[in-house]
Amino acid sequence: MLELPVLLQSRLKNIYPKSEYDTLKNVFSLKRRPVSFRVNTLKSNLEEVTDELTQNGIEFTILDFPKNTIILDEKYIESDIWKLNIYKFGKIYMQNISSQIPAAYFSKENYAGLKILDACAAPGGKTSQLSAMYSDATIYAFEPQKVRFDKMKHNLKKLWCENVECIHDEIRNIDQYIWEDNYFDLVLVDAPCSSEWSLSLHNDKFIQSWDISHINKNYKRQKYILSDVIPYLKDGWELIYSTCTLAPEENEAVVHFALCNYSKLGLESIDLSKNKYIKQVESLKNFENKIFKTEISEKTIRVIPSEYSEWFYIAKFKKWVNS
Ligand SMILES: C[S@@+](CC[C@H](N)C(=O)[O-])C[C@H]1O[C@@H](n2cnc3c(N)ncnc32)[C@H](O)[C@@H]1O
Repeated sequence: MLELPVLLQSRLKNIYPKSEYDTLKNVFSLKRRPVSFRVNTLKSNLEEVTDELTQNGIEFTILDFPKNTIILDEKYIESDIWKLNIYKFGKIYMQNISSQIPAAYFSKENYAGLKILDACAAPGGKTSQLSAMYSDATIYAFEPQKVRFDKMKHNLKKLWCENVECIHDEIRNIDQYIWEDNYFDLVLVDAPCSSEWSLSLHNDKFIQSWDISHINKNYKRQKYILSDVIPYLKDGWELIYSTCTLAPEENEAVVHFALCNYSKLGLESIDLSKNKYIKQVESLKNFENKIFKTEISEKTIRVIPSEYSEWFYIAKFKKWVNS
């Protein structure tokens, strides 16, 4: 088994309290987590999905949050359900619990006329979740990479997400498609990141290619992406920023940048401390020589790997209305 790079080890020790770091070291050695998925309510419902699982003798648990999520008993692997109709016909979507949290935290009602921007959308996991949650809304999903864009189109078609406009472009070109500021009610930025969620002592490729320069590059890109979308968010409405990485530069530092540069943005609390399937720790107050705005550690969360959840960082912004 491989060792983590020395710089990464020392960063982890700075990011997490000693007690957590020791537990995390064990999690890095985990080979896999129980299979979890979301019921696609555009095509099916909990009853139909659980009936088929029961008929096939598959044991499962239904979660209260994220809504419509099922975890299979740990003895199953994903291929155990490949033969089921719910899998073959897009009645479920394979998605870890952590990855469902960002979209699940939008608090607005579903209604016709609601406009949603998914700024970094492929392969469409969260776009399809939003499409089901907000079936009367119109969703604009941007993705610049052709292969990922095609995969997203395929997924959205299979899942019957008819209210999504897919745009094959970078978000910085948004002004070519949307001509008014303050256009969107909800904005999701599930940012391209250094993907440290894949950190595992069994993932040689990731460990060998881990490099601080990727983190620094992503930090710059994430700031640009947020700056590109913030003007399009309506006053009084919500923007959720998430990554699947643990680097503070790509998480707290990006949120700090947004709060410092956009006076109308504030944070709303995310708290999953009572959810037994999701393990969260407080976000950072500071990292290396940088001190973050106080509300960041109070209101944004770091989901850390556990038996069920994977790494995620989530921040929920609200754009205040001028008084
Ligand atoms: C973390 S992934 C998104 C995962 C997706 N939200 C989901 O749940 O399935 C980030 C995506 O952003 C895309 N991306 C990279 N640079 C971008 C840019 N400048 N504008 C928009 N999307 C970008 C990447 O190609 C990648 O597909």
